[in-house]
Amino acid sequence: MDDRSLFMKAQSVLDNAYAPYSNFKVGAAVLTKSGEVYTGVNVENSSYGATICAERSAILAAISDGKKELDAIAIASSGGEAYPCGICRQFIYEFGDDIRIITGKDPDNLNVHTIKELLPNAFRLKK
Ligand code: THU
Repeated sequence: MDDRSLFMKAQSVLDNAYAPYSNFKVGAAVLTKSGEVYTGVNVENSSYGATICAERSAILAAISDGKKELDAIAIASSGGEAYPCGICRQFIYEFGDDIRIITGKDPDNLNVHTIKELLPNAFRLKK
C-alpha cells in the first residue's frame, strides 16, 4: 500500500476516536512489512493520564495480531497535520529505527520522516 492510501486509512477511522475531553480526534494506520494494515484511534479517559494515543492504539493492534515488523505509520487528525507525541515516538522506535512516519493535512500534502529522524539519540535497552 502506498503512503497516500495508508494516510487515507488513518483518516477513515477518525470518526471512531473517543475524544470527548479534547475534541481532538486522531486516527493512525500501521503498515506491516508483510503488507497488513492495522488502524487505531485515540481513546481518552476521565482520568486524563489514562488516555491512549492513536499511534499506540494501532501498534497494539498489530502486535496483538502477531505482527512486529513495521514498515510505516500514517497519522491523521481532526486538527490538521499532527506529529506523534514523545511517548508515541519512543513506542514506535521500539519496533525499528527505520519505521516511516507519514503526516500531513491531507493525502496530497504528506511529509515523511523516519522515526530515528524524529527521535534522535533514542533510548534502547540492550537485549
Ligand atoms: N494524541 C494522539 O492520539 N496522538 C498524538 O501523537 C498526540 C496526541 C491524542 C491524545 C489526546 O486524546 C488528544 O490527542 C489531545 O492531546
